[in-house]
Amino acid sequence: MNTLTVDLGDRSYPIVLGNTADWIELLCEKLSGRTALIITDENVDAAGHLEKLEKALAANNYTDFQSLILPPGEEHKSLATVEFIAKAAVAAKLDRKSCMIALSGGVVGDLTGFAAAIYMRGIEFIQLPTTLLAAVDSSVGGKTGADLPEGKNLIGAFHQPQMVALDTDTLSTLPETEYRNGLAEVVKYGMIMDKDFFALLQNNTEKLNSFDPGFYAKIIIRSCECKAGVVAGDEREQGSRAILNYGHTVGHAVEKLSNFALPHGRAVAIGMAAAVRLAVLMDLCSKDVEALQNQLLTELKLPTRLPENSDVDAIVQAMKSDKKNSSGGITMVLPTAVGEVKIVKGVDEELLKTALKGVL
Ligand code: NAD
Ligand code: GLY
Repeated sequence: MNTLTVDLGDRSYPIVLGNTADWIELLCEKLSGRTALIITDENVDAAGHLEKLEKALAANNYTDFQSLILPPGEEHKSLATVEFIAKAAVAAKLDRKSCMIALSGGVVGDLTGFAAAIYMRGIEFIQLPTTLLAAVDSSVGGKTGADLPEGKNLIGAFHQPQMVALDTDTLSTLPETEYRNGLAEVVKYGMIMDKDFFALLQNNTEKLNSFDPGFYAKIIIRSCECKAGVVAGDEREQGSRAILNYGHTVGHAVEKLSNFALPHGRAVAIGMAAAVRLAVLMDLCSKDVEALQNQLLTELKLPTRLPENSDVDAIVQAMKSDKKNSSGGITMVLPTAVGEVKIVKGVDEELLKTALKGVL
């Protein structure tokens, strides 16, 4: 078992990586004397993870909870689902001292965190991630929210969880494609802040492609260390936290234009390919950096090209509604080397279109 801390003063919280037996007592301690609502989705339930959690809670004499099972998928990451969760919380008699628990991937995690942020003006919540993407990224850092038809995550709140705990055994039921989505965010950490981690990934693609649990445990820990460090330095994204958005500006645009048929992780991989192309065109980094990043993504069976028939103008238009922009136009995170990035405001639109055409 490994425990890290997200250091945010009196709102600090642990990230516990191990299995349910390692952290169930700590979870029950946090829930003691309060009601809770576990929120999960149909796939996580079908894989047996909800039942395992419910049994473990009961075995530790905590029974004051109810469970809510949502339909899976980004198309349900809406305000309507937030309302559905809030109504279920009322029905389950959650009060201001109660707790919501997200047991699933980033969609349920973001929705649950947001519902907790606004239910009775804010109650506590706990993240129990069950996808690689949620374990290495979305469960940590307190960004919560829902999508609008106009764009991804346009409604939301910063609301830090009380605890993040992963049972690595849950990843054994994760479909291969979901592992690969998570790997896009793992590669992101190497590119934005840790060239040694990038090299570790490059040298271990076989283990990554065979889903070696021991190796995954190692990369999850390092990814969480990276994320916890960035969040502790800039919780509300006033500056440096924005580096975590590498690949996300183009990524969110293509995700939205695909009507969310393109999963987040794959969209981020394409976004990183577009960003490094632009960085090369702007002389911010060498072609070697682009080749190294794209080779790793390709070896991990992640896309580095836009979906066929993509409309470059429509992508740029969608990027303009990204909430990461400031009044100075489109803001993007661009690499200067493997392990180093720079936040660029007011990106030249014509050059951006050339970069996007370069990854068509
Ligand atoms: P997801 O939550 O949709 O989960 C992917 C799929 O895997 C779903 O079908 C789910 O039902 C299924 N699943 C989950 N756990 C499983 C398991 N153990 N076994 C079998 N199936 C399982 O997607 P995701 O990739 O986890 O998260 C993507 C979301 O996270 C996006 O909405 C994105 O915007 C958000 N996100 C948020 C942050 C943040 O900081 N808050 C960061 C990155 C991404
Ligand atoms: N995934 C971006 C962030 O947490 O800031």
